[in-house]
Amino acid sequence: MTMPIQAIIFDAYGTLFDVYSIGALAEKLFPGRGDALAALWRDKQIEYTRLRTMCSMYKPFWEVTQDALVFSCNKLDLDLTFDAQNTLMGQYAKLPPFPENLGVLRRLQAMELKLAILSNGNPQMLDAVVKAAGMQNIFNHILSVDAVKKFKTAPEAYQLGPDMFGLSAKNILFVSSNCWDACAATWFGYTTFWVNRANAPLEELGVKPDATGPDMAGLLEFIQ
Ligand code: LAC
Repeated sequence: MTMPIQAIIFDAYGTLFDVYSIGALAEKLFPGRGDALAALWRDKQIEYTRLRTMCSMYKPFWEVTQDALVFSCNKLDLDLTFDAQNTLMGQYAKLPPFPENLGVLRRLQAMELKLAILSNGNPQMLDAVVKAAGMQNIFNHILSVDAVKKFKTAPEAYQLGPDMFGLSAKNILFVSSNCWDACAATWFGYTTFWVNRANAPLEELGVKPDATGPDMAGLLEFIQ
């Protein structure tokens, strides 16, 4: 590791919390279509965040997520009842953490590193999912892009980290399982770690994260 890291910032959905676990629930509601729905829902959700940021049409991530669910069901010709919508959205508020995460976070905390979340999620949904995962005492800050009304990958969203910690971005390790997020954070100036859980190829953006590992446990080696 080249830079002295003084703080670590984590992306939330897909990095700390398992969004694809939604697939199992979707499968119960729509047998045979759960995985397709979960994947399209996630893609649309991110697409809408980008469109809304590009056009200065921000609205909270919870609502964007709901819009993406409605679109995805329409597209896949699935009948989204009021109950099904509530069940799927409700799951979003209590996504399980990936199994290694709590242990890794506690080890990092014991190393006296400052820890934060920086997420597209609005504060209320982040508070709910952090609480459900038993992570209330882990993070020094939970930063939401809601403060700047622009989603990642807007520089104003990434700027929340250095501003909150009073550190330069290089001295903060930004951790995301979304390669686009890790790449954009690298462009911004953070030191970055890509948690490549799905063994996905690197985005073709002409930039690459400083380090990569198959899960969050890899962080412990990087940070030594
Ligand atoms: C987040 C999404 C991008 O938590 O995963 O910001």
